[in-house]
Amino acid sequence: MYIVLRNFLFLFDAELIHEFSVKAIKFICKIPYSRMVLRNLFVINNNILERNLFGLKFKNPVGLAAGFDKNADCYNEFSNFGFGFIEIGTVTPLPQAGNPKKRIFRLTKDKSIINRLGFNNKGLDEIVKNLKKERDIIIGANIGKNVFTSNKDGYKDYLKCIQGLYDFVDYFAINISSPNTKNLREFHNKELLKPLLENLIIFNNKQSTRKPILLKISPDLKKNQLDDIISIILELKIDGIIATNTSISRDGVKSIHKNEIGGLSGKLLNKKSNEIIFYLRKKLGDNYPIIGVGGIMKPEDALEKIKCGADLVQLYTGFIYEGPTLIKRINNLILDEELNKNYEK
Ligand code: FNR
Repeated sequence: MYIVLRNFLFLFDAELIHEFSVKAIKFICKIPYSRMVLRNLFVINNNILERNLFGLKFKNPVGLAAGFDKNADCYNEFSNFGFGFIEIGTVTPLPQAGNPKKRIFRLTKDKSIINRLGFNNKGLDEIVKNLKKERDIIIGANIGKNVFTSNKDGYKDYLKCIQGLYDFVDYFAINISSPNTKNLREFHNKELLKPLLENLIIFNNKQSTRKPILLKISPDLKKNQLDDIISIILELKIDGIIATNTSISRDGVKSIHKNEIGGLSGKLLNKKSNEIIFYLRKKLGDNYPIIGVGGIMKPEDALEKIKCGADLVQLYTGFIYEGPTLIKRINNLILDEELNKNYEK
C-alpha cells in the first residue's frame, strides 16, 4: 500500500512532500486512539531487542537518523512508528534558511537521495521550546555550527548548542560531516577535531550528570584520517561514533540528478558506510559503541550493518522509499536472528 502512496507522493517536490507528510502525521496523531492504533501496527515490544549503550537503555536498536526532524517538531508522533530512538537536528545556535531551493533530489532509479539543504533549522532557542514536550523515546541532538561562523570559532557554536540543549536530550551527536556547510568537513583533521572535542568534554565533565557525546563522521575519509579520528576519540574518551553521514561520491549513480551538488544517501551509500563501520569495529575493539547509518533499504541491510560491527542502526532514505513498515520488519529480523542464536546455544 505504501508503494502506491509513495509513487503518488514522488510526483511532487521532495521537500514539499516532507513538510506535507509531517503535517499529515501530526494531524492523524491528534485523532483519539490514533496513537494506540499506530503503535499496535508498528511497535514491537520485546526485551530481546533492548540495548544498553553509553548509559542509555534503548527499547530497540533502530533509530531515525538526523535531518528528518530538524526542529524537534514531530519526534513524539514519529516514535509511534516503532523507532528505538530519534536524533533531532542538525541544530545550529542561530536560525538559518539553508541553501536556495530546490535542494533535495530523489534518485529513484538508484534508490538514493542527493540533498544540499545546508542546516536549515529554526535555531537553538525555538528547538529548545519544542523539546519541552513530554516524551517516551530516547532523543539525541545532532549539533553543528552556523554557516557564517568560521572554523576557528566553530567550537563556540557547538558549545552553545550543548549548553542550550543539555537538559532536554539524552545524547549529543557532533556533526562534522555534512558536505553542505562549506569547509565543515575540515573538522575531521586532528588539528581542528581535538580542540573542538576537548572544549565540549570540559563542559560535559563539569555537569552533575554527564551526557554521552558521539562523533558523526563522513563516509569519504581515507584510512589515515580514520586512524587519526580513532586515536583522538579513544584518547578523549568520546562515548561513541556514528558512521556515516552522506557522501560526495557519485560512484554508481545512474540518475539524471547525478551532477547535483550535495550529499548522497540511500542504497548507493550502503557499501561505503559498511566498510567504514567494519574498519572502525576492527580498530576500536568489541566494546566501543558504534551507530551504523547509510543505505539501510531493507531489513537484511540493517543486519549486515550489525554484522559489520554496529550496535545500533539509523535510517532516513530507507524510511522515505519503504515507509514505516521497514522499522518493524528490521526489528522482526533482528529478533529472529537473536532467537536463533539463543536456540543454537
Ligand atoms: C540528512 N542527513 C543529515 N545528517 C546530519 O547529521 N544532519 C542533518 O541535518 C542531516 N540532514 C539530512 C537531510 C536529508 C534530506 C537526508 C537524506 C539526510 C544524513 C542522515 O542523517 C544519514 O546520515 C544519511 O542520510 C545516511 O543514511 P540513509 O539516509 O542512507 O539511511
